[in-house]
Amino acid sequence: MSRTVVLAYSGGLDTSVAVRWLTDRGYRVIAFMADVGAPTSSGLPRSQGVAHAVRRAKIAGAAKVVVRDLREEFARDYVIPSLQAQARYEGAYPLATALSRPLIAKHLVDVAHQQRAVAVAHGCTGKGNDQVRFEVTVRALDPRLEIVAPVREWTFRSREEEFDYAKRHGIPVDLKRKSAYSIDENLWGLSIESGPLEDPWQAPPGDSFRWINPPEQAPSRGTVATVGFERGAPVSLNGRRMNIVALIEAVCRLGSTHGIGRVDMIESRLVGIKSREVYEAPAATILLEAHAELERLVLDRELLHMKQALALKYAELVYDGLWFTPLKAALDAFVKATQQRVSGTVRLKLLKGHVQVVGRQSPFGLYRKHLATYGKDDQFDQKAAEGFIKLWGLPYEGSQGAGSREQD
Ligand code: ARG
Repeated sequence: MSRTVVLAYSGGLDTSVAVRWLTDRGYRVIAFMADVGAPTSSGLPRSQGVAHAVRRAKIAGAAKVVVRDLREEFARDYVIPSLQAQARYEGAYPLATALSRPLIAKHLVDVAHQQRAVAVAHGCTGKGNDQVRFEVTVRALDPRLEIVAPVREWTFRSREEEFDYAKRHGIPVDLKRKSAYSIDENLWGLSIESGPLEDPWQAPPGDSFRWINPPEQAPSRGTVATVGFERGAPVSLNGRRMNIVALIEAVCRLGSTHGIGRVDMIESRLVGIKSREVYEAPAATILLEAHAELERLVLDRELLHMKQALALKYAELVYDGLWFTPLKAALDAFVKATQQRVSGTVRLKLLKGHVQVVGRQSPFGLYRKHLATYGKDDQFDQKAAEGFIKLWGLPYEGSQGAGSREQD
């Protein structure tokens, strides 16, 4: 009996060809499709997009296709913790792709167990971060599973050759979609790589973007939106309570209309290379901004600063594929503890590519008007400042001026 492999299947060219390639190597292939949400940049309604991909997997030779709707789990257990941690890799990339990989890998392992597979496979290249995220997670969960990475092994020298292979084997590939870019998308954002983007000096061509209106074409008056948070998680938009998936989708649409959330950066990959990356992350950009401001209102200075310092580390762990690790679990516990009072409302102005907080309120706010005011209601004890400054500066008194000890 042939050995079963479960392939993380996206419906794109690489994984469709991988189905056939694995079949040729004697595997019985089960294609696993994880639905992690995306506002259908394929132009097809969601269900049709999935149905197309399922059909393509079968034509390519899959014995079975397993589809799981993971949008809720993705939002709740991956996106929200990362939002609460204020995670942006190298201060800029909100990690949409990186966050989805451990979730997909976890389900890949689960499907492999259900189907009594001996192996799992993915369609990542040998140059990227995604292979690391998939494989580290699979091995953390079940080191007995064999891992096959067809794209790292096969010998196509270009996408053209791959297309020819697909055509020869009757795998339908949409020629209109034969894009110059490599795309990955989910609820939290869209990642775009390669093609003309490989010249870091060249501005991203208009056709590299999928979701977001060009800022210069966004409505000139902009709009105002309010986001409600409970314990660090967004729960309402403009006063309407929504479930988390619907809320992220609604913020995504709003941001896209107003040109918000394009990121264009040079990124340090885990495998040692710098790459030029373009992202579209309207919901992440808006919600991270709103959440950060609420934290500035409710967290005391020491806690806020420690949390800000750890945000970079958290983002690094996510980026590096270390989702299921003890340090990540410990940081999650820290972040969770900090969110108990991150409840309230943030008002934002969205205008031609910019998002600006213009109002914030919380029952746990630490802002005290009678201490902050320069008006007549001031209750701040200005005389106390004098003694405070004396002791604060005591260790440095005279240390830099005339008479200070010469350093040799
Ligand atoms: N550079 C980003 C990351 O490492 C995006 C990767 C995009 N993946 C893709 N298959 N196109 O997370």
